[in-house]
Amino acid sequence: MAIYANYAATSPALSQAVVCELHGYLCGEHLNAGRNFEGLEAGAIALRARRAVGKLLGVENPLRVLFSSGATQSLNMAIHGLARQGDHVLSTGVEHNATARPLELLRKNGVIELDWLRCEPDGSLDPDTVRKAIRKNTRLLVMSHASNVLGTIVPVTECFRIAHEYGVLTILDAAQTGGVLPFTMEDSERDSVFDVIAFAGHKGLGALAGSGGFAIGENASREMRQWISGGTGSESHSLDMPEFLPDRFEPGTQNTIGILSLAASVEEILDTGVETIRERERASTARFLAGLRTLKKIRVCGTLDPDRCVSVVSVVVAGYDAGEVSGLLFENHGIITRSGLHCSPLAHKTAGTFPGGTVRFSFGSGTTEAEIDAILEALAGL
Ligand SMILES: Cc1ncc(COP(=O)(O)O)c(C=O)c1O
Repeated sequence: MAIYANYAATSPALSQAVVCELHGYLCGEHLNAGRNFEGLEAGAIALRARRAVGKLLGVENPLRVLFSSGATQSLNMAIHGLARQGDHVLSTGVEHNATARPLELLRKNGVIELDWLRCEPDGSLDPDTVRKAIRKNTRLLVMSHASNVLGTIVPVTECFRIAHEYGVLTILDAAQTGGVLPFTMEDSERDSVFDVIAFAGHKGLGALAGSGGFAIGENASREMRQWISGGTGSESHSLDMPEFLPDRFEPGTQNTIGILSLAASVEEILDTGVETIRERERASTARFLAGLRTLKKIRVCGTLDPDRCVSVVSVVVAGYDAGEVSGLLFENHGIITRSGLHCSPLAHKTAGTFPGGTVRFSFGSGTTEAEIDAILEALAGL
């Protein structure tokens, strides 16, 4: 039996409840939200998903939860939609390319000035770095909640609070924390320090690949221009996108099956409780980190404190390159990991593991102690 330790890339399987929902939908008719009377059903599915995700992220108004193809599209929509000519933008030294590439594109095209905030080699970041880097023309701060390479949790609430003191808009990449780390958009949307929260459906949220979206606060939704526009089935007489949410940011036919998978899986997460999921994953990570400390050949690149990271652990094994270790673990023990740069050259430069990369282990709430011990035993045999 294979041991799956690649949850940071994608969830290996949908839950039984989600599969049952999708089966029911696929065996029925496929309708298009807002395009005809029957399409009300697709709209109802979307509303159900907006409510579930809204509850998870602490967003009171479900119409502030928008769907897209995932975190990458959401981050692009938010970055391109909010950045203006001459703006200064801040981001961090652990970003995924989903953030780094659109920012770098805007910088190369002469639209923005860009600074990467320096993180410590383990991926941690001092919030004061944000205050020191803010300039008169700083408009945006874009941050990963937790590095997909190092697992280290970034103190985003503190950083975003500082940003808001200076009127800087905030975008959170919650691809690695949605559904696995409790956090909310806070008290009321008006006072929230989170202006945009981008989420991926296919990781901690346990939904289909190609699903995801973003939650948006009142201020950002007024400021954000459409990066993608098209038909919405509403205000069809106009060549402009409707002003109202969710249509303002949901052009084209939506991925109803993906959105249904999100509704069903997030409802399941809410039933279990994110705190419970976090505790299970923290326990797996703690066991793994404790075991790794006893293995002389292995260097852990992120934090060794399981309270300060999500369930993502990157290592370097002395005498081996990363790809070789992943290959041996799979061939000899059926252990599935991911090696290389994990779409985040910035994080590897921060950790000092560029260009060779690391072997990344990542766990889910169903990972067992026996699986962790088997991985440790396999590593001890290298
Ligand atoms: C930190 C981070 N941001 C963004 C993404 C992209 O997410 P999606 O696959 O939903 O586009 C990933 C996926 O690997 C990620 O780990």
